[in-house]
Amino acid sequence: MDVKLRQFEHSDLEAMLKLIWDTIDVCYRPVYSAEAITHWEDEHNETEILKDAAEGIILIAELDGRMIATGTLLAEQIKRVYVDSALQGKGLGKLIMTELENKAKDNGINEICLYASIPAKKFYDAIGYNTYSEAFIEVKGKRLDYYNMNKEL
Ligand SMILES: CC(C)(COP(=O)(O)OP(=O)(O)OC[C@H]1O[C@@H](n2cnc3c(N)ncnc32)[C@H](O)[C@@H]1OP(=O)(O)O)[C@@H](O)C(=O)NCCC(=O)NCCS
Repeated sequence: MDVKLRQFEHSDLEAMLKLIWDTIDVCYRPVYSAEAITHWEDEHNETEILKDAAEGIILIAELDGRMIATGTLLAEQIKRVYVDSALQGKGLGKLIMTELENKAKDNGINEICLYASIPAKKFYDAIGYNTYSEAFIEVKGKRLDYYNMNKEL
C-alpha cells in the first residue's frame, strides 16, 4: 500500500468527519449502546477538530488521494485514532501511532496517555500501552466503559 501521511488541512474536515462517523458506526455499534454511539458522534464535531488542529497535531493517512486513517496528538494525549473499517489490521493504526509518538518525543514528551474504547484495547496492548485503570461515564443512564492507558516513550 502506498500510504501518504500528512498533516490535517481545513479542507479535510468533511472527509474526516465521515471517516470517524462511519468507523464508529461499524466498529462500536456491536459493543456500545446507541446512546454511547451518539455521544461519540457528537463529541467529534467540527469545532473540536479545528480546536485540536490549532493546539496539537492531526495526522491524515491517504491512499490514492482518499483519507483512510487519522489520529491526533494534543500535548501528552493521543486521541481520535480511526482507521477505515475496510482497511483495519494492515498496520495503519500502528503507522499513525508511531508517527504521533515520534512527534511527541520531538516535543519533549516522555509519556503518552489515552482513553481506549473496548474494541481498541487489544490494539493498544499490542503496541505497548499499559492499562492503569478501567473507567466509565454515564450517558443518558447507560454505561460507557473505557480504559485509561499510558506508555512511556
Ligand atoms: C483500533 C484501530 C485504530 C487499530 O488500527 P489497525 O490499523 O486496525 O491496527 P494495526 O493493523 O496497525 O495493528 C497493530 C497491532 O495491533 C494488533 N491489533 C489490532 N487490532 C487488534 C485486535 N482487535 N485484537 C488483537 N490485536 C489487534 C495487530 O495484530 C498488530 O499487532 P502486530 O504489530 O504485532 O502485528 C482500528 O481498528 C480502529 O479504527 N478501530 C475503530 C476505532 C477505534 O476504536 N479507535 C480507537 C479509539 S480509542
